[in-house]
Amino acid sequence: MAILVTGGAGYIGSHTCVELLNAGYEIVVLDNFSNSEPDVIRRIKELTGKDFPVAAVNLLHAPDVSRVFAENEIEAVIHFAGLKAVGESVAKPLEYYHNNVTGTLTLLGAMREFGCKRIVFSSSATVYGADNKAPFKETDPLPAAASNPYGTTKLVIENILRDLCVSEEGWSAVLLRYFNPVGAHKSGLLGERPKGVPNNLVPFISQVAAGRREYLNIFGSDYDTPDGTCIRDYLHVVDLAKGHLKALEYKGAGAEAINLGTGRGYSVLEVLAAYEKACGRKLPSRQAERRPGDIAESCADASKALKLLGWRAELGLDEMCADAWNYEKNNI
Ligand code: NAD
Ligand code: UD1
Repeated sequence: MAILVTGGAGYIGSHTCVELLNAGYEIVVLDNFSNSEPDVIRRIKELTGKDFPVAAVNLLHAPDVSRVFAENEIEAVIHFAGLKAVGESVAKPLEYYHNNVTGTLTLLGAMREFGCKRIVFSSSATVYGADNKAPFKETDPLPAAASNPYGTTKLVIENILRDLCVSEEGWSAVLLRYFNPVGAHKSGLLGERPKGVPNNLVPFISQVAAGRREYLNIFGSDYDTPDGTCIRDYLHVVDLAKGHLKALEYKGAGAEAINLGTGRGYSVLEVLAAYEKACGRKLPSRQAERRPGDIAESCADASKALKLLGWRAELGLDEMCADAWNYEKNNI
């Protein structure tokens, strides 16, 4: 029996594959490589010394997805595959809804056809919207729509999974609401490789440190926070990957939303300072306008993950920055 990892060649998926293989799981990776490189698969195999089947399949093509289930005995699915660029989702809403929502419906259809009823889904802290107050709890009320189509696809998919679990006995869906995954594998072989200009803070700082960008724009310095810059709950991608193994072991039925974050927030300036420590020099930055859609503080109440899954983040900001820098300088 194997775990199907959709989006297994991506940033979080690849780190999770390594943890799964090291823990003795058999895996099958499904990815269309729309936002990843096939070489990542080679690196996962090199790191773990294990082989596994890879289906270069688009989730939107139902017969191909069914074939993956027909050819492998799949006991559960970890569903990472999706498009994730906030700005692009505003420009291309139809592509985002189609890829993320239709892709998930196709996957769930194949799971039902083959009697596989366990799924761990990559949701996001973005579902909490702008009206809740940090630290966010899973019981907080969710908005009907997020501030952008990407975020709304997460809300829609969470609802689909909740409805599915109510409709038929035996389904189990863990909706993991990630906060801000950063960092890379210690080996420097796996990490985040954004296409084009990075949207997110740590990948942008990495490129400044590597000399690929001139300076960091600090989006907003007048927020109601101790140093005026926004606060986020950054979490090491390897900690996050390990959270997926705990979610697979979870035996509860029905749909369960669980935050994965450290519960500790850091400001933009604190992250910049930690990165400077990691790369050993000062990095150029400038104050810039607030970024539309940003909230002052996003931070997890991480107690449910500890109680239900026995998971808590172990790695701190210094390790996140050191590993991000190690990956960046090894892969320039
Ligand atoms: P990623 O882009 O690195 O990985 C996603 C993978 O899915 C890619 O390898 C891509 O090729 C694949 N994919 C996309 N559409 C596909 C399709 N139709 N068929 C097959 N494969 C497809 O992204 P990531 O950072 O690893 O994120 C993984 C998941 O976690 C995503 O669903 C994302 O929305 C969610 N998430 C990410 C973050 C973050 O900050 N990285 C935060 C919260 C939630
Ligand atoms: C982003 C996404 C959010 C997603 C989350 C997951 C946007 C608007 N939101 O949010 O949907 O769920 O990532 O990781 O893209 N910053 C700078 N300069 C930069 C880049 C970022 O100052 O060049 C600041 C931002 O204003 C923010 C903080 O750094 O205050 C973190 O930004 P980012 O890494 O994009 O994460 P989120 O804002 O949480």
